[in-house]
Amino acid sequence: MKGTHTPLNYHPEKLKRELKPFYIGADDKDINDMLKTLGLNSLDDLYAHISSDVKMTSVPMPKHLAYEELIGHVNDVANKNNIKTSFLGDGLPQYKVTDVVGPVCDIRGLTTAYTPYQPERSQGTLQTLWIYQSLVSQLTGFEAVNASLYDRSTCLYEAMNCALRLVKDSTTVVVANTLYPGDLEVIETHAKETEMKIVRAPINAQTGKLDIDALKRILNTTPQVAAVAFPQVNHFGNIESVDEIVDLCSNNNIKSIAVVDPMLLGRGGLKAPAKFGVRGQGADMVVAEGQHLAIGPNFGGPGLGIFGIRYNEQDKVSIRSTAGRYVGKTQDLKGRECKALILSTREQHIRREKATSNICSNQSFVATAAGASMLARGDEGFEATLKHSRALAEKAVETLTQFEGVELKFKGSAFFNEFTLKLPVNTSEFIHKASAAGLQVGVDVSNRHTEIAGENLLMLSFTDIHSEKDLDKLVSFFGSNFEKTKGGSPAPKIQSVMLRTDAPEIPRIDSKEIIAYYEKLGKQNLSPDDGIYPLGSCTMKYNPYINDYAASLPGFTNVHPQAPVEDIQGCLEILFEIQEQFKAITGLPGVVTQAVAGAQGELVGLKMFQAYHRDRGEGDQRNVIIIPRSAHGTNPATATMAGYQTKMVEGQLYGIYTVEALSNGEMNLAQIKEFLKTDGHRVAGVMVTNPNTAGIFETQFKEMSELIHAVGGLVYMDGANMNAIAGILDLNKLGVDAVHNNLHKTWTIPHGGGGPGDAIVGVSHRLLDFIPGVQVVKKDGKYDIVKPAKSCGSFHRHFGNFAHKIRAYTYIKALGADGVRKMSQVAVLSARYLHNRLSKSYPTLPAEAGSAPRMHEFILTLSPETFKKVEASGTPKTNTIARIGKLFLDFGFHAPTVAFPEQYGLMIEPTETYSKKELDQFSDVVETILKLINEHPEVLKTVPHFTPIDRVDEVLANKTPVLTEKITDHLPDIIPDRVDSERLRNSTAGDLCELILKAHQNQ
Ligand SMILES: Cc1ncc(COP(=O)(O)O)c(C=O)c1O
Repeated sequence: MKGTHTPLNYHPEKLKRELKPFYIGADDKDINDMLKTLGLNSLDDLYAHISSDVKMTSVPMPKHLAYEELIGHVNDVANKNNIKTSFLGDGLPQYKVTDVVGPVCDIRGLTTAYTPYQPERSQGTLQTLWIYQSLVSQLTGFEAVNASLYDRSTCLYEAMNCALRLVKDSTTVVVANTLYPGDLEVIETHAKETEMKIVRAPINAQTGKLDIDALKRILNTTPQVAAVAFPQVNHFGNIESVDEIVDLCSNNNIKSIAVVDPMLLGRGGLKAPAKFGVRGQGADMVVAEGQHLAIGPNFGGPGLGIFGIRYNEQDKVSIRSTAGRYVGKTQDLKGRECKALILSTREQHIRREKATSNICSNQSFVATAAGASMLARGDEGFEATLKHSRALAEKAVETLTQFEGVELKFKGSAFFNEFTLKLPVNTSEFIHKASAAGLQVGVDVSNRHTEIAGENLLMLSFTDIHSEKDLDKLVSFFGSNFEKTKGGSPAPKIQSVMLRTDAPEIPRIDSKEIIAYYEKLGKQNLSPDDGIYPLGSCTMKYNPYINDYAASLPGFTNVHPQAPVEDIQGCLEILFEIQEQFKAITGLPGVVTQAVAGAQGELVGLKMFQAYHRDRGEGDQRNVIIIPRSAHGTNPATATMAGYQTKMVEGQLYGIYTVEALSNGEMNLAQIKEFLKTDGHRVAGVMVTNPNTAGIFETQFKEMSELIHAVGGLVYMDGANMNAIAGILDLNKLGVDAVHNNLHKTWTIPHGGGGPGDAIVGVSHRLLDFIPGVQVVKKDGKYDIVKPAKSCGSFHRHFGNFAHKIRAYTYIKALGADGVRKMSQVAVLSARYLHNRLSKSYPTLPAEAGSAPRMHEFILTLSPETFKKVEASGTPKTNTIARIGKLFLDFGFHAPTVAFPEQYGLMIEPTETYSKKELDQFSDVVETILKLINEHPEVLKTVPHFTPIDRVDEVLANKTPVLTEKITDHLPDIIPDRVDSERLRNSTAGDLCELILKAHQNQ
């Protein structure tokens, strides 16, 4: 591997947008023409209304790399990692990646689409998620599986919160101390400052399993327990007594949350969690990491948080208290069977502070890939993998324990394919010695429990990536360290009650058939490759192929996050450099790289705020967060999740203090000032989106920051709209203490049909000591990791969605100092150009913002006369905006963001990706839409007309949710498009209007 460059699997010169400088669609002539139309002289003039004391004049980063240089560079970095024969598992086991995953990851219609808000134009994504939900349901036995949550750790926290909601008057969750330590750290970080109490149930030092007697004592003596969370296979590899634990929970009327490894639930594997308990009643919730169902270790992410809950005759309601998105089967208005996001979980955060979770972007595409991969394996594939893994693990135990001083640590406890050895030497030294000999020998688990202190423990994992030869290599390494003096220990037998007896009946489908099927599904979505994808606030810009190429280099994908530091220098370089890149971009001195989405970045920010206030002895006093009403729903949802529940106590407000907008669209600073006069000492911070969700820059931001700092509070800036200001504004000068950068917006990682996203959080000097997770440092040319002095904890077991950091890093390298600025400038120019033209025919919002300079996006609405015409033709005003969104689908475009942040608004964000010609063509369409509505408002009753399905019956979908089907032989049917989107985009506006009218009349 060292020194080689992996060939590209695409032809950049054949792609319309791949080789454009900085991936910007407008050329110099386009830029000059647009500036001229706007009466501006230069790109800098776009920011003339913003005070120069908050601007940066240049971005302190190197010049961009040319395409060829970039290919070489990312290969060189990947080649700095050492890929060795590895026995690392520890909650992120390494299995073979099936041959369908690569091709499915290359389907742009699936990878680059947004969350399936518009079911009529998103059956592709919805169907892939449906398959995932159904197959995970078959594996686990759980009737309801969502698609999906971030990863196992945060998923466990969501499950624990769900238990608190379900068990009346409960406050406490008991967690097994045999769960992975990284997961325990994440849930405890989340629970700090909230009403959730966590009690750890101890291990039995002899068995290496949860101490059931101690658990009984805890349950007998602890009031208000909601649930027990426990692993099926624990962090020593031992299989827990799951039946006893679930029975204990049932008998105590509390919830049981089983944490499992989905791979081990295949045919011939372990018992499904829906069957746990002596009576087979099953656990109440299941939580798992599913990353390895789909992809390789990728230095720890993107992960896939699997969550399931019972949904059967005995319990149809618990599901409504859960977090995450569910795809449900429903019908369109013509009775065609189809899929849609259901249960108001469509976007948890729309319910703001009442949301069950703050999650917005999730790990959708990993779920898609996992579904395809499960079909490629089928029952036979799972069984073969499990048989091989188990057999090799049994042989390994027997062989390795023949060496002097090497013993199976927990001789009486059954394991499946991962086990813990006791060594006669220091484990850490042994691991480094092994690394020098070409082996990643296992994970050091010596210090997991005080009850088992002072022993040298090593955990090894065996899967289908290992051959007999790999085992021989391992044995030979042990042989070079220890004498073979004794008979080996046999692997303890697994009791039959712990094993699966039935089959999940997952069909094994030919890889070619799977790929062709997913390709067809990809065609049912839209991609920003095709043309403007005007979803405001979502920044649907071009996702360069080279980013995916870099992220898929084997030198990155095959790296386990727990490999010795000398083997992961390439990955650490990416993390170090991305820290530096975002310091330069934000102007802030610190960077957190753990958050896997914008909303998680918000939580990271608020948890750092809490740690800061606690450190200053003001933890209890700072109990208010100020948030504008126009904020994205994740802001209030995050504040609530962080522990700022909104309530009135003795006439005093706790939690979220809401700030209204002024008629020009900016926040009402006078209202904030008033509040600070009386309650400043109680303010923990503010959360303000800038530019705001109306596309307007908050010109008083700096003054606001100064006021907040003066009363001891902190400033969070929601950076979802960085695409307008990156490289132009210095956030340090603006007074920002924490800001998230959604990598899946400004920084070009694909949206994946809803995720995975990722977020880099910039932090001010006030918060440097409280940064969660680890920081990468460079010393004498080598990279290492350190933990900040007063770290507020951890939000990810490893380094966030690492593969996405490679994508963002590659993009920023392609931009360099000049490209970052130009990207923002042209994004703003494109939006302002469109706004200038469309505001001549459409009224805009906020109503009194008039011609106030818009940044990267703007909001259109209809005149009162048009609303009246539409109402008179039978479409109520409350439905009109959503229906116009559907009319965009008839023109081959995705809908703008409808009814957010203004109920009667269509928010349009063009980004810098498109040429002036494309912007003009899009404007023609938007104007034609208005003309059509004015002349034939009745068409809104039947929109959309050309998608595979008509409008979805959402009432039916939510009333009687159908969440899975048993997929045992063939794949669910695909309903074809009535007219292909590409054909629609290539038709003239006049032809389309005729086609739409005809289709309307035929309804
Ligand atoms: C303004 C704003 N804030 C926060 C978020 C949440 O980001 P994420 O989806 O990455 O969690 C979004 C996402 O659309 C957003 O537009």
